[in-house]
Amino acid sequence: MTVHIGAKDGDIAETVLMPGDPYRARWAAETFLDDAQLVNEVRGMLGFTGTWKGNRVTIQGSGMGMPSLSIYANELISTYGAQTLIRIGSCGGMQPHVGIRDVIIAMTASTITSPSSGIFKEFNFAPSADYALLEAAVKAAKGKGSTTHVGGIYSSDVFYAERPDLDEQMVRHGILGVEMEAAELYTLAARHNRRALAVLTVSDHLQTGEALPSEDRERSFGDMVEIALEAAFA
Ligand code: HPA
Repeated sequence: MTVHIGAKDGDIAETVLMPGDPYRARWAAETFLDDAQLVNEVRGMLGFTGTWKGNRVTIQGSGMGMPSLSIYANELISTYGAQTLIRIGSCGGMQPHVGIRDVIIAMTASTITSPSSGIFKEFNFAPSADYALLEAAVKAAKGKGSTTHVGGIYSSDVFYAERPDLDEQMVRHGILGVEMEAAELYTLAARHNRRALAVLTVSDHLQTGEALPSEDRERSFGDMVEIALEAAFA
């Protein structure tokens, strides 16, 4: 047990999918895993362990934002020995060619600040995905219905952004989408020599204001979960 995860030793698989939303963890576990068992419900941050095609997988909610993800990822890595951590979640599209329901596989995750900024000081570390996972995810995505983009994303500390000038620079520099967790996940994976990736579904678009209707969410999010699972066990 850790401060924030009530799972017993051995209850967490080496491969962990991390959606921000604990209810999405439950939905993904019930939809894609066999024999899914609830392994954590501390603070309602649900975690489930089951199997996918015979491979053990945990799906553990991370909460929203890098400070919350940092708590769960640190405990999964240091206490439970998680080796492969894949964020599955939503993001806001930032490029005109990125549409609602598209999948983004995040090669890099830029930030202004993250929970790790304090240790880097003046050094601008470039958080990046594990290459083998990235390659496997791109291959898996080719067999799915969703349009897929691979490139840089932005991990923000705010959902309600007040810096249109900053968004403009992101767009100008080819950032595909914005979310709030991946940069810290990539940084922690680098620090502890683990594998990390973020596979995201575009749920809204910053320029067009378009948003995914709730009835479409499950099907679109399903491709993302399958891409993550196929990449983890490629
Ligand atoms: N901003 C930040 N995080 C997000 C967004 C967004 O527009 N959409 C989904 N996650």
